[in-house]
Amino acid sequence: MAFTIAIDGPAAAGKGTISKAVAAHFGFAHLDTGLLYRAVGAKVLAGADPVEAARALRAEDLEADNLRTPDVAQAASKVAVIADVRAALVDFQRAFARRDGGAVLDGRDIGTVICPDAEAKLFVTASVEARADRRYRELLGNGHDVTLEDVAADVRARDERDQSRAAAPLKPAEDAVLIDTSDLTIEQAVARAIAVVDAVRG
Ligand code: DC
Repeated sequence: MAFTIAIDGPAAAGKGTISKAVAAHFGFAHLDTGLLYRAVGAKVLAGADPVEAARALRAEDLEADNLRTPDVAQAASKVAVIADVRAALVDFQRAFARRDGGAVLDGRDIGTVICPDAEAKLFVTASVEARADRRYRELLGNGHDVTLEDVAADVRARDERDQSRAAAPLKPAEDAVLIDTSDLTIEQAVARAIAVVDAVRG
């Protein structure tokens, strides 16, 4: 049985945490599609051509341990503007989405472009301040030497690039359910997401 849950939203809105918890709750597989763009971005920082890197991407590239750095995040957002990079990553994502046993995919364009027929669609968002604050704490916790101002500027720059690009810009699908996590605990946000999926599954 295939059942796709599409979870989109801007950087640091809580998509990743919610997606993992939702996947665990339903026993579904989970794909963080941002990792695909991060893996391509990391290869470009190392000198590769973005389109060639995207076409040659392998599953093990998603395991590289430098993919969570701010530099790679910016590089990911830049390669994600390139239509041929996005096109090279479509088949892998669609195959993952329709695998047997159900799948949760989180990203920017899952409900709009990759899986427009997903059974459940969520758009997870939060204020820029809440997102910058969370990302700042996360990076500090991982030992990165960053300031809140720099992290907020990074989040804004990525929002701007992700929303204004011509190819698959970040925006909620018309039939997505919006969850604003600015004032929610993780538990509350996860409970809402599960309730949305339960309502569809009946
Ligand atoms: O979700 P993330 O922060 O790991 O994503 C990194 C970048 O990759 C993000 O700024 C935009 C891009 N991205 C995308 O364009 N489409 C997706 N489905 C996922 C990520």
